[in-house]
Amino acid sequence: MAEETVTIIDNTTGKRVDLPILRGTHGPAVFDVRKMYAELGMFTYDPGFVSTATCSSYITYIDGDTGILMYRGYPIEQLAAKSNYLEVCYLLLNGELPSTTQLQTFERNIGDHTMVHEGMRSFYRGFWHDAHPMAFLVGAVGAMSAFYHDSTDVSSPRHREISAHRLIAKMPTLAADSYKYSMGQPFNYPTNSLNYSENFLYMMFAVPTAPYEINPIHAKALNLILILHADHEQNASTSSVRLASSSLANPFASICAGIASLWGPAHGGANEAVIRTLNEIEDPKNIPKFIKRAKDKNDPYRLMGFGHRIYKNFDPRATLIRDACHELLDDMGVSDDPLFDTALELERIALEDDYFSERKLYPNVDFYSGIIMRAMGIPVNMFTVIFAMARTVGWIAQWMEMMDDPEQRIGRPRQLYVGHEKRDYIPIDKRP
Ligand code: CMC
Repeated sequence: MAEETVTIIDNTTGKRVDLPILRGTHGPAVFDVRKMYAELGMFTYDPGFVSTATCSSYITYIDGDTGILMYRGYPIEQLAAKSNYLEVCYLLLNGELPSTTQLQTFERNIGDHTMVHEGMRSFYRGFWHDAHPMAFLVGAVGAMSAFYHDSTDVSSPRHREISAHRLIAKMPTLAADSYKYSMGQPFNYPTNSLNYSENFLYMMFAVPTAPYEINPIHAKALNLILILHADHEQNASTSSVRLASSSLANPFASICAGIASLWGPAHGGANEAVIRTLNEIEDPKNIPKFIKRAKDKNDPYRLMGFGHRIYKNFDPRATLIRDACHELLDDMGVSDDPLFDTALELERIALEDDYFSERKLYPNVDFYSGIIMRAMGIPVNMFTVIFAMARTVGWIAQWMEMMDDPEQRIGRPRQLYVGHEKRDYIPIDKRP
């Protein structure tokens, strides 16, 4: 069969180039522009990567028009209903669901690494006491390259594997430590007899003065949150990890780049911002005022938790968390949560508004994840930390895939220079 191509013609010079079309398993095809500069002397221009695929990937597929999300081909709804976070980690990292023995070995490997070096805990003590927990996390994960420099040779598959296990295993410990430090409470050590979610809840909430009983409803909800946030293909933080590690930077430094990117309110920081918005709204009767602001072109205000670059129908993760919110509140015997009621009303009003429907702005995962975490008693400033904990495996899976991909090179975007033409230096006493 003849190669499928797209022809680009420069109407000014008459030069043309035939670019190959590449087709994946699902989703839109791409045309391969790699030889375009050599043949046409031009780059493509795409701020924000709206129309650019930066890699090919086997890991996660999203169909934003129909609201589909799959990890390694498995629909998110099935994984959310039937799997657990560590099994999903194995799937993302290895491409297949594990056998019983493979899962046991993986769990043991993760368990071997849950403690953090005692020196890291002194390192924490150097932070300002009420810094945001994301500030701790960026610093602590970056510092892992100092504490665990025996696994930073990215050319060694064994080093890559150990650092992957270390990151997945230590993230809950570091995340819980960031909370404990900000509260002035003693750090807890991990307990390997607990599962991943239970262990995190224990390290975060247990205090030495009283027995701590893990609430199974909360552990189940956290397991769901972790699964739903585990990967999301080439979003800003994952692309940051890929770009940072394309220079062969060590995995801890690269994951740190992902955490930093996730922190922003347009990305993972939105879950925190949603709660702030709902608190500001205070009463459903004030919702129209906030909707009006979000629609005003002269006001930079955005309704946090709404909109997504890819989902133009609904975000399947938001649907699953919204259902889980109802279940959690019912199980906890909470018949009336004013914040949740305000959220439901905000969703209803926004979805009926032409501004939101014309722009296909639906509630995204962050809209409901904040609400469910708040209902579990998790403080607002820990929401993005938990997102980072969940996404660590996705960042690592994408990093590992990239390291094995012969097509990947150092990331080096080009630009359209619109600055001054060449001009001569003027000595300071001659400047106007
Ligand atoms: N409130 C009001 N208007 C909005 C919103 C919003 N939340 N989001 C997008 N718009 C408008 C935007 O003003 C633009 O309007 P117009 O076409 O008239 O200029 C149009 O919708 C398209 O917006 P965009 O900024 O070009 O879309 P984008 O794909 O670049 O941005 C987004 C996606 C998620 C950054 C954006 O929708 C947003 O800022 N949402 C609020 C923050 C948020 O909830 N982020 C979490 C994203 S999901 C999880 C994650 O990634 O962590």
